[in-house]
Amino acid sequence: MSRPAFPATAADYQALARARLPGFLCDYIDGGASDEQTLRANVEDWHGVSLRQRVLVDVGKVDTRATLAGQPCALPLALAPVGLAGLMAQRGEVQAARAAQALGVPFTLSTVGICPLDEVQAATSVPCWFQLYMLRDRGIVRALLEKAWASGCRTLVFTVDLPLPGMRHRDTRHGLNAGGLRPALVRARQALARPGWLWSVALGGRPLTFGNLSAQVPNVRDLDAFKHWVDSQFDPSVTWADIEWLRGLWPGTLMLKGVLGIEDARQALHVGAQALVVSNHGGRQLDGVASTARKLPEIVQAVGAEIEVLVDGGVRSGTDLFRALALGARGVLIGRPWVWALAGAGEAGLRALIASWQRELLLAMTLAGVTRVADIDSSHLDRVAQCATP
Ligand SMILES: Cc1cc2nc3c(=O)[nH]c(=O)nc-3n(C[C@H](O)[C@H](O)[C@H](O)COP(=O)(O)O)c2cc1C
Repeated sequence: MSRPAFPATAADYQALARARLPGFLCDYIDGGASDEQTLRANVEDWHGVSLRQRVLVDVGKVDTRATLAGQPCALPLALAPVGLAGLMAQRGEVQAARAAQALGVPFTLSTVGICPLDEVQAATSVPCWFQLYMLRDRGIVRALLEKAWASGCRTLVFTVDLPLPGMRHRDTRHGLNAGGLRPALVRARQALARPGWLWSVALGGRPLTFGNLSAQVPNVRDLDAFKHWVDSQFDPSVTWADIEWLRGLWPGTLMLKGVLGIEDARQALHVGAQALVVSNHGGRQLDGVASTARKLPEIVQAVGAEIEVLVDGGVRSGTDLFRALALGARGVLIGRPWVWALAGAGEAGLRALIASWQRELLLAMTLAGVTRVADIDSSHLDRVAQCATP
């Protein structure tokens, strides 16, 4: 991967991130589950969606603004929750939240982020969205919800596709799932090869703990022990009844993230969620499931009139964002691209990436002859592609 002096695309930022981060962190971000088929399909299947060009339409005023979960946005895009993002740049979640606010898009803080909610909220005037995993200890869940609400969060992104963490072989190869001295030495050698990261993040970015959970965990300083505790807290026995319990506790917008089929989308509606994210966790959970580009249209058709349907997975440009809207999504979330931009070029890099996608979306709208986001629909798809869409 060559390192561009003037990055233009998500892939350019990925190359910059690779040059700055230790190898185990690059693979933690880039990797997917098992053979990574779904990871690849997520990206490739957007490319299979052909767009329809229109000419000589009045596109003098094109507006990319939209509303996501009741929040006005400069474009229909939000930064997805990414665990451990604070290992990718100094106080990474704070930088990302500031960049998101500057460009007018929501930032979602992961339960397993490095920076705690208070720190992120203090750095911005627009409250972030908060992502929650169901933990075995429901007392902790309740406390997190109360804290999120008190801090001003009004959108809860509840992730439903992680009863257990997926098989991520890249992480295994770096010894991330094994304790002991040897894996630590392997990672230390990789870290020493990245002195800039060591100085800025490993030293300058401390404390490197799971900020939202640090009050709950006995051995806060040992990140390995911490990860072990978090992994043991994922609760595979969660059902729709628990979502109803959650619904009763959360007065704000409830968004379920990780729905990939019509039946589950209907259940999401039934339990009172206002929004859902069509997602396979960026290809990090069940390898072999269909890409989100493939599943989106049928879910929109089934429940799109009654619930806000967002999508994530493999969206790599403003043009992909336009494709998602044309397939019926109200907006998209992005994961890896924002982390690459932040890790590779800091807060300014992330601002530049979002601004570039906004320009690209505006360009796509202009060339497709549509001036408002709400008017983007399947009429902007090429007819051949529409037939190919399942
Ligand atoms: C490194 C990494 C960590 C992630 N951590 C979380 C998390 O803590 N919570 C969550 O709901 N999703 C998490 N996700 C999934 C993202 O929120 C999102 O669904 C996915 O990244 C979208 O795909 P994309 O990376 O191709 O844009 C993570 C994804 C990545 C790549």
